[in-house]
Amino acid sequence: MSNALVVYSSLYGHTRRYAQWIAEDLDCPVRERREVTPEGPKDCGARIFGGALYAGGVSGAEFLKKHQALLADKPLCLFTCGVADPEAPRNAESLRASALRALPEPLREKTALFFLRGGIDYGRLSLRHRAMMAALAAVLRRRPEDGRSEEDRAILETYGKAVDFTDRAGIAPLVSRVRADLGWSAPSFE
Ligand SMILES: Cc1cc2nc3c(=O)[nH]c(=O)nc-3n(C[C@H](O)[C@H](O)[C@H](O)COP(=O)(O)O)c2cc1C
Repeated sequence: MSNALVVYSSLYGHTRRYAQWIAEDLDCPVRERREVTPEGPKDCGARIFGGALYAGGVSGAEFLKKHQALLADKPLCLFTCGVADPEAPRNAESLRASALRALPEPLREKTALFFLRGGIDYGRLSLRHRAMMAALAAVLRRRPEDGRSEEDRAILETYGKAVDFTDRAGIAPLVSRVRADLGWSAPSFE
């Protein structure tokens, strides 16, 4: 078992799935953020926090603020999970801005950021979330097409549907980074 800890916040399960995949690859524990005691991250060599994107905010970001002193001493990775495609160049800036907003100032520079793609199933959304998406889609539809960001487009294209873009391969860069942080060396085949 490796000396890392994965903590996540997920409302509909996409972020949890990524957190579990990461924990499997790193052979380390994975916890929902509310299950984490202050002692939890204490002796870990690396911490990974994953939160879902809701209206540009990262769910569970309070965890990072609350434990900032504890998280300052060891490598930290933050991954976000949203419906917008992180490979689309025009999304890069807004995803980065969302991730940085979730981090308290002293953690910003040291934290490695990763952006993963989740999914959405309108049939499973809470009434509040459905109403929020309906209002957002109405605003976006009124916007001229060339004024819509990639994120806006993704929201309109997936509106009302059930889509799942989760992809285990997406975690590879994060897993490599944590392995390097923990000083794992690649196996030698000589
Ligand atoms: C009300 C609402 C707001 C959302 N806002 C964003 C957003 O700003 N950016 C984004 O990429 N995805 C957004 N999404 C999509 C979610 O991030 C996506 O469904 C994600 O996979 C949810 O993760 P979870 O299942 O772990 O909660 C939003 C979804 C809802 C319902």
